[in-house]
Amino acid sequence: MNQPVMEGLRLNVPAYVKHQRLIGWVAEIAALTQARDVYWCDGSQAEYDRLCTQLVSAGTFKKLNPAKRANSYLACSDPSDVARVEDRTYICSAKKEDAGPTNNWMDPTEMRSLLQTGDKALFKGCMRGRTLYVVPFSMGPLGSPIAHIGIELSDSPYVAVNMRTMTRMGRPVLDVLGADGTFVPCVHTVAAPLEAGQADVKWPCNQTKYIVHFPETREIWSYGSGYGGNALLGKKCFALRIASTMGRDQGWLAEHMLILGVTSPEGKKYHFAAAFPSACGKTNFSMLIPPAAFDGWKVTTIGDDIAWIKPAADGRLYAINPEAGYFGVAPGTNTLTNFNCMASLNKDVIFTNVALTDDGDVWWEGMTDTPPVHLIDWQGKDWTPAIAKETGAKAAHPNARFTVSAINNPALDAEWDNPAGVPIDAFIFGGRRSTTVPLVTEARDWVEGVYMAATMGSETTAAAAGQQGVVRRDPFAMLPFMGYNMSDYFQHWLDMGAKLTASGAKLPKIYCVNWFRKGADGKFVWPGYGENMRVLKWMLDRVEGTGAGEEHAFGVTPRYQDINWKGLDFTPEQFNITTHIDKAAWGVEMKLHQELFQQLAYHLPAELPATKLKIEARLAAE
Ligand code: OXD
Ligand code: MN
Repeated sequence: MNQPVMEGLRLNVPAYVKHQRLIGWVAEIAALTQARDVYWCDGSQAEYDRLCTQLVSAGTFKKLNPAKRANSYLACSDPSDVARVEDRTYICSAKKEDAGPTNNWMDPTEMRSLLQTGDKALFKGCMRGRTLYVVPFSMGPLGSPIAHIGIELSDSPYVAVNMRTMTRMGRPVLDVLGADGTFVPCVHTVAAPLEAGQADVKWPCNQTKYIVHFPETREIWSYGSGYGGNALLGKKCFALRIASTMGRDQGWLAEHMLILGVTSPEGKKYHFAAAFPSACGKTNFSMLIPPAAFDGWKVTTIGDDIAWIKPAADGRLYAINPEAGYFGVAPGTNTLTNFNCMASLNKDVIFTNVALTDDGDVWWEGMTDTPPVHLIDWQGKDWTPAIAKETGAKAAHPNARFTVSAINNPALDAEWDNPAGVPIDAFIFGGRRSTTVPLVTEARDWVEGVYMAATMGSETTAAAAGQQGVVRRDPFAMLPFMGYNMSDYFQHWLDMGAKLTASGAKLPKIYCVNWFRKGADGKFVWPGYGENMRVLKWMLDRVEGTGAGEEHAFGVTPRYQDINWKGLDFTPEQFNITTHIDKAAWGVEMKLHQELFQQLAYHLPAELPATKLKIEARLAAE
């Protein structure tokens, strides 16, 4: 099976690989990229340990003190490669309208010429001097009818080890793929070829970056970045951008949503799927610990970032988490904000861009109230509280991350790996808004809920390169992750609702939340974190038909007396700040909805402007 593809290069195909089309494609990419060597990942622990040791030798990884963080590593990236690059992300559908106005688009033939076929095609020779890793992965439980397989070809061993934690990766995937199974081909290069004798750098990457999706042929090509969603192609590129187009074609949903279970003291279990933009607390919400007053209530995690949701024979929507690990934002995480997450991070973790302590452990802003007296910051420089005060230097990059397996999470739901998924009782959509949007609002029906999600705004965070803290419309928290035209996606949601209604099913309720409203002093009013359980409980009361609330222009919001305040000192005045509807602010907000609808006019479902008119009429009458 060790066919040579070019002089000096063997494909090293293991005997267990039976898929000739896969072998042919690996040969083709190895030839295009002129990789020095090909290595097929089997996903074993021994392989993981070996690659980590290799990354330590290369200087990419530092092994942390095993007495503090067993079997854990720290990687620090090139300072230019620290976040997803939305302006370099392309949806290359045949027709520009199918990518829509929210995506960068290039004609697929032109893009292929730029990347693969032109005289100066970027992928030609891009892996010279490097090993091409063949990384087979399953998004979703192995062999599940709702899972899909991808194969990432990458010249980054950092990607290979992260993919082992983030997905079901390795030989068992190829066993499921068999001789002719379908897979999404994903090609990734850090685009830093090494000439003979040239020494490598700790974090190879390229100033030129392209994160490219061909939705019609379901292919991903990523060039120039080794970081996060740019490089771990199972996550945003496959499980959201490509999967959203698969969902449109096949009648399901691929969403930027956490999935959590809530079990009542009587043992009744509910499931929520909640969409928030990047770095707005999805991981914290998915692992929350209810306050003491909610004795007997339990929250368990199914997923923290992505949900694949499909209608089942009983007419309900079932969700699976296609991932197997968490690639979460470290800064701000501590034992008070997310106890379960901190407990997950005790062992078997890859940290990226956090700070190193003098005793070989990690630290980031917000981990402890008092920082250590000395650190090596994420850029390898000395850091002390005094230096930070003087220069503002952060010890950890604001988008510093941890990569850890879901099985490390003490709050992991027993059903997290169930191939059938869990039935969804309610959807939650939340943005980061310091003004205007109330703590929680229930949509009166599916269309109103789709309107809420479609018009959602949020302040930008460090998860994407670019200016932070600017309110932008982020429909369904999917703005950076949509694989097709946003208006067609709204239509897909409306169609799903109509189909489920026609089948006689009870639709999940839809809520819009905002944990981030600030008071006149500029501080967050709502305590958030575990206290969000109080809002979840109100939603459950509504699901059960027992909860009360007050109708207003765009939905139903609880009054002070409708929430359980036991054990929390939160006054009606504070509650009023988090919920009150400022007519002037909503006047401005509705204009922003209008701007969004103008931008998305092509194929915009008529139900959305019609809902807007209703809301405006109600606002005027109030
Ligand atoms: C993520 C993101 O990494 O949304 O999950 O940026
Ligand atoms: Mn995300």
